[in-house]
Amino acid sequence: RRTAILISGRGSNMVALLEAARAADFPAEIALVLSNRADAGGLALAAAAGVPTAVVESRPFGRDRAAHEAAVQVALEAHGIELICLAGYMRLLTPYLVGRWAGRMLNIHPSLLPAFPGLDTHARALAAGARLHGCTVHWVTEEMDAGPILAQAAVPVLPEDTEESLGARVLTQEHRIYPAALRLAAGGEVSWPPGSAVLANPLP
Ligand code: GRF
Repeated sequence: RRTAILISGRGSNMVALLEAARAADFPAEIALVLSNRADAGGLALAAAAGVPTAVVESRPFGRDRAAHEAAVQVALEAHGIELICLAGYMRLLTPYLVGRWAGRMLNIHPSLLPAFPGLDTHARALAAGARLHGCTVHWVTEEMDAGPILAQAAVPVLPEDTEESLGARVLTQEHRIYPAALRLAAGGEVSWPPGSAVLANPLP
């Protein structure tokens, strides 16, 4: 299944997905890495791995998020994309993209959703005194970080933890569950809405 990874930054989850997708039996082919920022570190990593990259800068579109998404959609169609993985893509999505990709777009979030949607999840978990923290792969819906959950991993919060040490523990698990979740989704072993065939409704 032709899969795009959307990034805005360093791209460590992207690298984990690229590495997993090298396996001969992996049901997703990473056919595009797209960033909304030209300075995203992950772009160079993707290019070094031989994956096509695209930059659709969001800044020039200002507040017109749907117009930016229309430009992203053009790039996705040009590359024949069938599935999307958001991986540190720091843009709120509008119904324009979410509606077009319902059931075909995944996101990874660094908390055990529904706890701590949004930003600064590790600091918030520490401030709340959480004893368990973790990460979640979910289908993307219009509400931010709230779509149906596909995979999760939990880690302990240790007394001496800092935001950095806790974040690093979570990130290790992100790199494990995102490829596993993509394998399930691209292979059609899980779908959302329930019973939908992931690729039965390819984009025109
Ligand atoms: C990860 O923590 C991910 O869960 C969050 O943004 C971060 C991206 O990191 N959505 P990376 O670019 O994959 O290294």
